[in-house]
Amino acid sequence: MPSPEERSQPFHPEHSREHSRKDRAGLVPELVREVVPADTIPLVRPLLDVRDLTIQFPQSRGSEQPKAAAPVAAVSSLSFSIAAGEVLGLVGESGSGKSITSLAIMGLLPPAAIVTGKITFQNGEGLPTHLTTLPPDQLRQFRGSRIAMIFQEPMTALNPVMRVGDQIAEAVLAHHRVSKSEAWRQAVEGMRNVAIPDPEQRARSYPHQLSGGMRQRVMIAMAIVNRPQLLIADEPTTALDVTIQQQILDLLNDLRHKFGLAMLFISHDLAVVSHVADRVAVMYAGNLVELGAKADIFHAPAHPYTQGLLRAIPTLETDRALPLSTIEGTVPPIAQLPPGCPFEPRCPHRIAACAVQLPPLIEVRPEHWARCPVVNPPRI
Ligand SMILES: Nc1ncnc2c1ncn2[C@@H]1O[C@H](COP(=O)(O)OP(=O)(O)O)[C@@H](O)[C@H]1O
Ligand code: SF4
Ligand SMILES: [Mg+2]
Repeated sequence: MPSPEERSQPFHPEHSREHSRKDRAGLVPELVREVVPADTIPLVRPLLDVRDLTIQFPQSRGSEQPKAAAPVAAVSSLSFSIAAGEVLGLVGESGSGKSITSLAIMGLLPPAAIVTGKITFQNGEGLPTHLTTLPPDQLRQFRGSRIAMIFQEPMTALNPVMRVGDQIAEAVLAHHRVSKSEAWRQAVEGMRNVAIPDPEQRARSYPHQLSGGMRQRVMIAMAIVNRPQLLIADEPTTALDVTIQQQILDLLNDLRHKFGLAMLFISHDLAVVSHVADRVAVMYAGNLVELGAKADIFHAPAHPYTQGLLRAIPTLETDRALPLSTIEGTVPPIAQLPPGCPFEPRCPHRIAACAVQLPPLIEVRPEHWARCPVVNPPRI
């Protein structure tokens, strides 16, 4: 737990995580220190580090006086990191800022967006790359090779008048100097890796000739064909029916282990995230409200919003005769967010102070943070 002095400092969950690791490193016996000279110990950095990310939009949509209005923050001071090979689940209701966070990482936000903060990618082959300041041509090279993304609706990413094999081969050719036949061979291999039956034949199909699940597999094949280290999956199963959804989740789990893929797995559905994530970050109205290991989030949720999301998931014990629990109300539009805790208008635990100031993140147990000092009073 941080000391009260540390708590009064600007708080970044993953900074404390690093700090606690250093503390543990300090307990390494003297003998080990002698055997391994300090300068040969690699400094372990996360693969992706998002620090104090704020995304603002000018208030033009739906505003009566667009020019007079100040930009509003759709994501506020968001910090998290993902280790190599780790899967971080990012959950929150629609409009909480999940997709624009992923687009900020990919450098794909619309030009009107005002982005501050630092996004760093460490590929283990040199200095970290600061994605927020990378020139557009280098960022384009990064996308699809080191970091790839899949979306909810494959049809928006696939070209309807091009054979799927050609589309995957094009992704290979964009990043490698290989012949067209070699790119085609890699495309077929990529389709085999995502368990598409008879890939030589299916590679000649057009997207509309494939089912929704097969199209999502094609998009995954296209995303991983250049062996990225990080895959961002934004609601990849939301448009699919339950059986196909489970198959795609199983596939992502297989690929993750086969290729050591790290993932930022985004979903509005905590139950879906539980199938793939190692750690879970919960967002509400652009703010990180809870972050921790999956087991902690599911067995000991510390933020009232996460507790509400969990109560809304049916379990084997759920009495089917009763309606499922829901969180009353809706996420307020970002231009109308209350000044204090964004969850205050819907929170069953709120007290007067909650409406005044944004609460800090509190470390409720090692490597588990929640933005609610009322339910988790800081220890003094
Ligand atoms: N192009 C845009 N212009 C203005 N505001 C936007 C734009 N895109 C997103 N937003 C704002 O950002 C909020 C978060 O959007 P988004 O990341 O898509 O949410 P989520 O993926 O969690 O459903 C939206 O509710 C909207 O207010
Ligand atoms: S800070 Fe207050 S309003 Fe916000 S989640 Fe905690 S109790 Fe609820
Ligand atoms: Mg979204």
